[in-house]
Amino acid sequence: MRTSVMAAFLLGLFLFVSQPPSVPSRPTVNEAGASSKTVDYEQRRASSIQNQTQTAVHPNGTRQQLPQTIIIGVRKGGTRALIEMLSLHPGIAAAESEVHFFDWEDHFEKGLQWYASQMPFSYPHQITVEKTPAYFTSSKVPERIYKMNPATRLLLILRDPTERILSDYTQVFYNRLQKHKLYQPIETVLIKNGDINMDYKALNRSLYYIHMQNWLKYFPLSHIHVVDGNMLIKDPLPEMKRVEKFLNLSAEINASNFYFNKTKGFYCLRNHGRERCLHESKGRAHPQVASPILAKLYQFFHEPNRKFFQLIGRTFDWH
Ligand code: A3P
Repeated sequence: MRTSVMAAFLLGLFLFVSQPPSVPSRPTVNEAGASSKTVDYEQRRASSIQNQTQTAVHPNGTRQQLPQTIIIGVRKGGTRALIEMLSLHPGIAAAESEVHFFDWEDHFEKGLQWYASQMPFSYPHQITVEKTPAYFTSSKVPERIYKMNPATRLLLILRDPTERILSDYTQVFYNRLQKHKLYQPIETVLIKNGDINMDYKALNRSLYYIHMQNWLKYFPLSHIHVVDGNMLIKDPLPEMKRVEKFLNLSAEINASNFYFNKTKGFYCLRNHGRERCLHESKGRAHPQVASPILAKLYQFFHEPNRKFFQLIGRTFDWH
């Protein structure tokens, strides 16, 4: 009896030792089209960058970490509302101000260690998030983020491109007003020689498909979640539930986190009984634009919007 047990043990040991390591016969392909070997390498490289840039651990167990998620834009799309609403989730640690690391050379030259030092202290289980709306329209940014960490999850909040322009104009108008400077009437910046002014920077920022093409050179669609900025204004909860899902977060954000403030005309936030609305610079009245000019803008954006919808395989309820 004892001899047969010993024989079985020795046979098992022999089979175990002689078993070759399990190497896939060919690399498997993931949804992004990259081989699993590449993904594995990318993940190891990303985690090694995280380790190299990790700042000192606080006695409470938190530390500053590179963001695993970035809100890349678009300017005036509702980026502040999005990051504030996302911060309602206990699994999120959000940077308070816009870091402009990847788009401003003087910041970028300071390196990833500096970038990490701009981040909030977070627990290991939390996702660090920063938002810099100018990233979306800056052509050098996608490659830079990819090189930091190709597994970065990107959030992009968009609204009707014409509305976005009016919001953009209003922002610049108030910035200049603060500096006691005048700004041209909106018709003057929108129209040049009777046609749409293609040199107007705000117009270019609303050509979403052009910028999106740059991002798709580096990130698969599955890494970019587009938030509907118009819907976030009208009914924020469903949009936020989609963001939770995209980031693999537990379902924490709920209806009690939002209430409609009639005076502001927007949803405001409630967290642990504390209520607050966004700053007064968010949700400003836009200038009245003559309807023929508006119609011209809506018409102008039809084709660029169609190209954008095709690019991301999804449509939006824009003019
Ligand atoms: P307007 O001020 O033109 O209405 P960003 O934070 O990217 O600069 O975007 C600002 C826009 O966020 C605002 O543009 C506003 O429409 C929108 N927004 C979305 N949800 C909001 C909310 N709950 N409160 C205030 N503004 C909100």
